[in-house]
Amino acid sequence: MENIKKTFIEVFKETDQLRAFFAPGRVNLIGEHTDYNGGHVFPCALSIGTFAVARKRKDSKIRLYSMNFSDRGVIETSLENLMYVEEHDWANYPKGVVAKLIEADALILTGFDVVFNGTIPNGAGLSSSASIELVTAVMINEMFQLKIDQVELVKLAQKAENEYIGVQCGIMDQFAIGMGKKDHAILLDCQTLEATYSPIKLEDMSLVIINTNKKRGLADSKYNDRRSECQEALTLLQQVVSIESLGDLSIEEFEKHKHVIKNDTVQKRAKHAVSENERTVLAVEKLNAGDVAGFGKLMNESHISLRDDYEVTGQELDALVQAASDAKVVGARMTGAGFGGCTVNLVHKEQLADFIERVSLQYAQQTGLKADFYTVEIGDKAKEITL
Ligand code: GLA
Repeated sequence: MENIKKTFIEVFKETDQLRAFFAPGRVNLIGEHTDYNGGHVFPCALSIGTFAVARKRKDSKIRLYSMNFSDRGVIETSLENLMYVEEHDWANYPKGVVAKLIEADALILTGFDVVFNGTIPNGAGLSSSASIELVTAVMINEMFQLKIDQVELVKLAQKAENEYIGVQCGIMDQFAIGMGKKDHAILLDCQTLEATYSPIKLEDMSLVIINTNKKRGLADSKYNDRRSECQEALTLLQQVVSIESLGDLSIEEFEKHKHVIKNDTVQKRAKHAVSENERTVLAVEKLNAGDVAGFGKLMNESHISLRDDYEVTGQELDALVQAASDAKVVGARMTGAGFGGCTVNLVHKEQLADFIERVSLQYAQQTGLKADFYTVEIGDKAKEITL
């Protein structure tokens, strides 16, 4: 924090009335590509995330600076000028949130200066974008005393991502970041937004995130493709069964009606969405009953479904999950959108050092890439913090 405050003073030459905010990153334990299909997800907030130090201005200028992109300098705009600008790059995320707040009639009376500093690796599938969106939303809500409910901020942040950035993401990332709870994961029904918190007591196990360090090229367009394939499957199924989303179907019902989907690829996409939703609910039941091994087994099955039916893994994620399995992991799967990014792993604590050594060696041999390992803690939701 001291460092961010120091940077703020250096960049903006102001010292008083500074306030500080934090939004976590997130990792999804199970329930992938189910959120926009009206299914369940089971993510948690992380202790790493995005910090912001900010100060209200007297005029309508908005000045944004990120310590992660210091080479880009200060990006300046104003309340009257919140259009998406390609060259503004990372700053489009906070700008999008301010634009959506104003669209929702929020009374943001003046501009502001802000310095961001993120501790989440960018583009690794741990939601650095939703994190900067939520830290902005909470910051504006507090600084301008808007009194907007946190779930509404979550929805506005998702709207910014969908309409301003142009990625058709579901609600999972923004919800996990906006509503996360220390040492708990959230079973979220994405149709109703009903959330149930499960304490994560792993006892003799560790939660390990491994970054493939494969850059996620074209991931956004492939993500949008998957969404339209699922929509196509839903429209066909709705001709024979009364459902609102793929999340309303059991795997038996799906098997009975799947013949209406003639295209094999589209059928596989829907199969994943339906089976993953069932797996997620079952996995949480197992975890709540203390059956961590059973939970781990379902994580492995989730990866296979994402690999074979949803086809969003790719060589690097598969190599990393295979290496983890060879090193006796309890459960391993890709997390987030896929196409690169990270895996999430449950590892016996006493085997951790050996696990890291074996996985890192095998992965490097197979892909020529160096994996990064993070033993993570489950953190709290986006909020104001003391400076
Ligand atoms: C990305 C999206 C989420 C979700 C996941 C896949 O993280 O932002 O809404 O769809 O992919 O589960």
